[in-house]
Formats: sequence, C-alpha cells, structure tokens
Amino acid sequence: MDNFEFYRPTKYYFGRKIEENVGSYIKESGKSRVLIVLGGGSCVKSGLLARVEKSLNDLGIFYVEIGGVKPNPRADLVYKAITLGREKDVDFILAVGGGSVIDTAKAAAIGIVNDGDFFDDFFIGGKTVTKALQTGVVLTIPAAGSEGSNSAVIQKEINGKIIKQGLSTQFNVPLFAVMDPELTVTLSNYQTACGAVDMMAHVMERYFTNTKDVSITDRLCEAVLLSIIETVPRVLADPTNYEARANLMWAGTLAHNNMCGVGREQDWATHHLEHQLSALYDVAHGAGLAVMFPAWMEYTFSHNVMRFAQFANRVFGVTMDFEDPSRTAKQGINALRSFFKSIGMPLSFADIGAKAEDIPRMLNFLGIDDHTEGHFMVLNRADCEQIYKIAA
Ligand code: NZQ
Ligand code: ZN
Repeated sequence: MDNFEFYRPTKYYFGRKIEENVGSYIKESGKSRVLIVLGGGSCVKSGLLARVEKSLNDLGIFYVEIGGVKPNPRADLVYKAITLGREKDVDFILAVGGGSVIDTAKAAAIGIVNDGDFFDDFFIGGKTVTKALQTGVVLTIPAAGSEGSNSAVIQKEINGKIIKQGLSTQFNVPLFAVMDPELTVTLSNYQTACGAVDMMAHVMERYFTNTKDVSITDRLCEAVLLSIIETVPRVLADPTNYEARANLMWAGTLAHNNMCGVGREQDWATHHLEHQLSALYDVAHGAGLAVMFPAWMEYTFSHNVMRFAQFANRVFGVTMDFEDPSRTAKQGINALRSFFKSIGMPLSFADIGAKAEDIPRMLNFLGIDDHTEGHFMVLNRADCEQIYKIAA
C-alpha cells in the first residue's frame, strides 16, 4: 500500500426533510452572507428552493441567488457568480443541485477571493489554490460525488477549443452536504442511471491499479459496486423507493470521497477521455462513461489480466477460469456492458450521437500530444485513438 494523507472534513446531514435545517448548518459555521447557486430549475419546480430559502429566512441569513447552471458547467456562469459574490460581499456559497451546480459553486468560491482568472490560473495554469470561500451542498442527484470530493470540473472555450478541466484541491472539499434521498425521486430513470454509471466509474478508476496488496480498498470498492448493481434496478423499477434511493445516494458519496482510493495509484484516463465527449456533444457525463469505460477495459485488460479476472469474479460473479483468466476478464467486461444496457445506458458513439470522424478533435481537446493519460496503463495518442475507435 502507498503512503497517504486523508482528510475529508465534510459533515454529512442525511435523511428525510433534512434540508429544512440548512440555515442552522450555515449559522453553526459562523457565516452570514450566502450566495446560493442553482441549476436549470428542477429545485424550483420541486419546491426545494422555497424550503431552503425559508430555512435561511427564519434565521435572518442574508442570501442572493444565481441560477442557470447547465450540465457540463461553463466558465461563463462562474464569472457571473464571482462578480455577484464580490458585489454582495458573500462569505459562503451554497450549492443546491448536482455535480454541475456544486462545481460551479466550488469554482466561484475560489474565484471570489483570488485575483486573476479562476480558470486560466488555477484550472489550467497550475497555480496552487491557497484560499477559497467555504461551500455547502444540498444534493439533488447522486452521481458526481462532488458533495464529498476535492475536485471541480468546469468547461471553457478558448480559441475554438473546448477545454473541460478538473481541479483537485483540499479547498474544494465542502464544509457540509445535506442529503435527503426524497429529493431524488423527481429524477428521470435516465438521469438516475447516468448517475449510477458515474459512481461505478469513480470506483473503477480506483480499482484498476498497479499498487500491490491493497485488499482493504479492493474490498471496499467491490462492496460499493455490488451495492450499486443491486440497487439501481430497484430504483428504476420503483423510483419512489426511499430505501433504495438512500442506498444509492450514499454509494455516490463513498464512490468518490476517496475512501475507496487511498493508498493506491488511481487511473482516471477514462474520465479524461469521456470529458471530451461531454464537451463536444453535451452528453451527460455518466452516459459518456458507459460508452468509454468498457472500451478502455477492452484495450487495457491484458496489462493485468488477473486484476480484470478478479473484478469479473467478485463483482459480476463470473466463474474464475484459472487456465485462461483472460476469458474470465473478457466475460467481466461483457457483464459490465450488459449491465449498462439493462439500465438503459448507451454503449457506443452512435447511441450518443458522437462521430468517429471527430476523434482527431477529441484528441486535440484532450491535449494528448503534451502528456500521457492514465496510470494503470500509460496511454499515448495512438492508445487513446484506439480506445475511441473501440467506443465508436
Ligand atoms: O439543472 P437542473 O434543473 O437542476 O436539472 C439537472 C440537470 O439537468 C437534473 N437534476 C438534478 N437533480 C434533479 C434533477 N432533475 C430532477 N430532479 C432532481 N432532483 O439533472 C441534470 C444533470 O445535473 P448535473 O448536475 O449535471 O449532474 P451530475 O451530478 O451528474 O454532474 C455532472 C457534472 O459533474 C462533473 C461532470 O463532469 C459533469 O460536469 N463531475 C464532477 C466531479 C467532481 N466534482 O468531483 C467528478 C465527476 O467525475 C464528474 O466529472
Ligand atoms: Zn465522474
């Protein structure tokens, strides 16, 4: 196991109607001027925003709001949030929504208190974040795991090139996350399934590692995957099933707050390959991952057949063929594809409207000529091209 430091101070408030207390969670933190960040309106329609506002009003907490965050969030809105936050002198940012809203909030939290350009300096410029406002989250979709993660992903177009870029820093870890599974019953089955794929991908990015002897995190990864695989069909069959929704919601946090990833080298090539699909075609991140993950697996499994065979055996119950473990490994990849299909996810470029002729653009957006991708198997341009071709 590798050496590691692990500190995730997010406080989780989990359960029915817990969002009605959000004002008191802000007050406890000593903050009093809040910028609320919202998406495209689902939380207005559901009445959630009104409950959050009431909770703040009851305690006399000042707030301003900025809405309109789109999935695959754009830098433009972050700039607006920064301007508003500075004008109103806010000292706290509350995200009410999913990964896109949370990441916009995190980016604004950095931008408000730092000079310069939040994206150019920190997201792509490599400048170290040394200060940011604190953020809180009212989570409405279990998926990205941003409520407990140290990362934020923002998209910006620079000179015709769409750059979808993540930034990992301890300053991105939210102070608290309010998680009421009831808030997720309004999600479509498609969004629910996209979220589940994203969670699984977060675990798998950690599972496929070259680090030896990490059985504790292997087993945690397998537990989270098994629970998601068991739970998603129950949610899709009965979207109002609170217990199943609750399990799925917590799985999304455990998948990405790095409990499953400490002490081991992680991969992340598939996420970066996928980000180019969401950037180019505006597909849901989870849908893009359903297309890209099996393709990455097919290309890389021979790098460590036994790890893939273990995955197949322990996660999908494939009988281990010790004479030919590559058979077991391939059956595992097929089982993953079948699972994605069974929950209504796309499996190929055609299913998400992506085009093979755009692969050079994807590679260009990825900037693969300047670096390699992944750690499990280090990928160069030709490797990434092949993986896109498998996905096509
Ligand atoms: O905007 P509204 O109207 O709220 O609608 C959203 C949006 O259209 C809708 N939705 C959310 N909660 C709902 C709901 N609709 C009905 N009922 C509810 N309760 O769902 C749609 C998708 O929302 P979004 O926030 O985009 O989803 P998700 O949480 O999957 O976030 C995806 C983004 O997170 C990034 C992705 O790249 C993508 O940009 N990621 C962030 C990570 C992180 N910060 O740690 C890690 C991930 O790997 C990922 O890259
Ligand atoms: Zn993801």
